Amino acid sequence: MKKRIAIFASGSGSNAQKIMEHFKRNDEAEVVLVLTNNPQAYVLQRADNFEIPAHIFTRHEFYETDEVIRILKTLQVDLIVLAGFLWLVPLTLLKSFPNKIINLHPALLPKYGGKGMYGDHVHQAILANKEEESGITIHFVNEQFDEGEIIHQSKFKIEPGDTLEMVKFKGQQLEHQHFPKVIESLLKKMKS
Ligand code: GAR
Repeated sequence: MKKRIAIFASGSGSNAQKIMEHFKRNDEAEVVLVLTNNPQAYVLQRADNFEIPAHIFTRHEFYETDEVIRILKTLQVDLIVLAGFLWLVPLTLLKSFPNKIINLHPALLPKYGGKGMYGDHVHQAILANKEEESGITIHFVNEQFDEGEIIHQSKFKIEPGDTLEMVKFKGQQLEHQHFPKVIESLLKKMKS
């Protein structure tokens, strides 16, 4: 049986798109659900384009009820992928899916992680510190922001004069290139 992936995203969802594309015709796995806290998120349109169902949840539902867990269990989800999802994952969800939740972060953790470190804030901090390189991290999720075991990192160089947009672009290129493949190899290693 194919492994079943659920994607959580809060915004544009370009990574969600790459994952949906990658697993559209794949013998190993399929994306069965997209979840978001943001009813305006463009990821909803992207999910619709791939005819993948979506679930929008509120803060109350996510933190005060087990509804999201119930949905994920009903769909027999094997792997939860956070792709630009900005809320902390509650302990109840972590405990229901031990070692089955992974996150993408736009920096080389443990640097530039933690609360408030997401999206452009990360790249701004990296430029302000005149870093000569940056990169991406894919890691298991635990109860702290950006602190779980690292699964994959890749790097790019920051050239003198690189702008925020350029650094962001280089990071996105790496994310799009690596995230779906890392998910696939992780799923291959996972016992069902
Ligand atoms: C990605 O760059 C991801 O690394 C980042 O949000 C972006 C989402 O882009 N995640 C974080 O900052 C998490 N702390 P996308 O919506 O186009 O996939």
